[in-house]
Amino acid sequence: MTPPLNDDSERGLHVLVVSPDPALEEEFVGAMADVSMHRSLVASAPAFRSALEAARRRTPAIVFVELMAASSEVLDFLKDLREVTSSAVVVGVVPQEVTAIGRLPGADVISLMRAGVRDFVNRPLASTELRDVLDRVVVSARPESAARYGHVAAFLGSKGGVGRSALAVNVACRLAQWHADEVLLIDASLQSGACALMLDLATPTTIVDAVRERERLDRTLLRHLALRHDSGLRLLAAPSDPLEAAEVDDEAMLRIVTMAHRSFRYVIVDTGLSLDNVLMAILDATDTAWVVTQGTVPAVGACARLLPTLEGLGLPASRTRVIVNAPQPSFSGELRPVDVADRLQRDVDHVVPYDRRVGVSMNTGVPPIFSAHRWQRLGRAITGISESISSAGTTSIEADVARGRR
Ligand SMILES: Nc1ncnc2c1ncn2[C@@H]1O[C@H](COP(=O)(O)OP(=O)(O)O)[C@@H](O)[C@H]1O
Ligand SMILES: [Mg+2]
Repeated sequence: MTPPLNDDSERGLHVLVVSPDPALEEEFVGAMADVSMHRSLVASAPAFRSALEAARRRTPAIVFVELMAASSEVLDFLKDLREVTSSAVVVGVVPQEVTAIGRLPGADVISLMRAGVRDFVNRPLASTELRDVLDRVVVSARPESAARYGHVAAFLGSKGGVGRSALAVNVACRLAQWHADEVLLIDASLQSGACALMLDLATPTTIVDAVRERERLDRTLLRHLALRHDSGLRLLAAPSDPLEAAEVDDEAMLRIVTMAHRSFRYVIVDTGLSLDNVLMAILDATDTAWVVTQGTVPAVGACARLLPTLEGLGLPASRTRVIVNAPQPSFSGELRPVDVADRLQRDVDHVVPYDRRVGVSMNTGVPPIFSAHRWQRLGRAITGISESISSAGTTSIEADVARGRR
């Protein structure tokens, strides 16, 4: 385990900046000046050889290395650096040529992290991003906290096509509008996950990368594997190839959801249909289960069977919510929410109306929640569910504080 960073005020935080570009040191000193809680002493080295010398002499607490990719030259340098100063935390600086066109490919991120890079910042350096990274590396140098931070809300349905994914995606986007970068959507509908398509996101990384890296999965890696949507939402996408889904087992899933609720304020999980070991692992880490049904007899019957099953798995009625969605236009004989409540012998918590633009959005990749003014009733229903998750989250934080879990 990495020893705590040396950032005591007497010595200051010794930082080494490795880049052929002399402007990076200046950029760094400028950004660092705004990060007042960390007094720093910055030195720089233009090449890997001189960087190793400087690291040997100065034993920096953090080394910032400008990186284009995970070339063998870079990986060799990181290995040598570790030998020279095993206690330094290494942070990759992503150059502007890369940030201008996107970000480092997921495969490079993984090899760099395997070689010891703990986090990344983008050029041009912004003091807010630098502060976040410093806070994270200072925290991650301490023993991993077991504390639960976020609220896990799983969207379940007893039947396919009731609208779990549509609701999970829209609710997650709404929450992300309120809490940018603090909401993670996990697409655990492993065989046929569609969240990435619904958000028009390419999937260079998916949940399978998190499974393959389970041993080193920490907050930083999870954030890098999660795709970023413009709304501020993060998505851990379903496997692009259904065959890969077989690699996701219950142990890996539990580790992922556990790391997710330590790292994000809200974790929304879209689930598949089968009540298998993977779903059980998700339920183990779930705070509230949102059971989606529709006004048909088979869907409500299946819902009536699912609720006691959830109770048996440790999710009593106080932690489940029932949503009656309308994935089709109303039809004669359709069960109304009041009939559903009657059959289930419990309250229906939320009712979501039919809106044909939900279907349209599946093809455009723009969730309807972003044009809420035109989506009046739907928008209100999504906001209502999001507010309930938000307040359930606050309540569970308070309960945990009372129980001494946080
Ligand atoms: N409230 C709604 N209004 C209109 N169409 C909806 C609504 N909810 C879901 N749909 C449509 O129903 C279909 C199934 O929804 P989906 O979210 O994929 O269900 P599930 O994830 O439960 O299988 C999709 O074509 C979706 O566009
Ligand atoms: Mg689905």
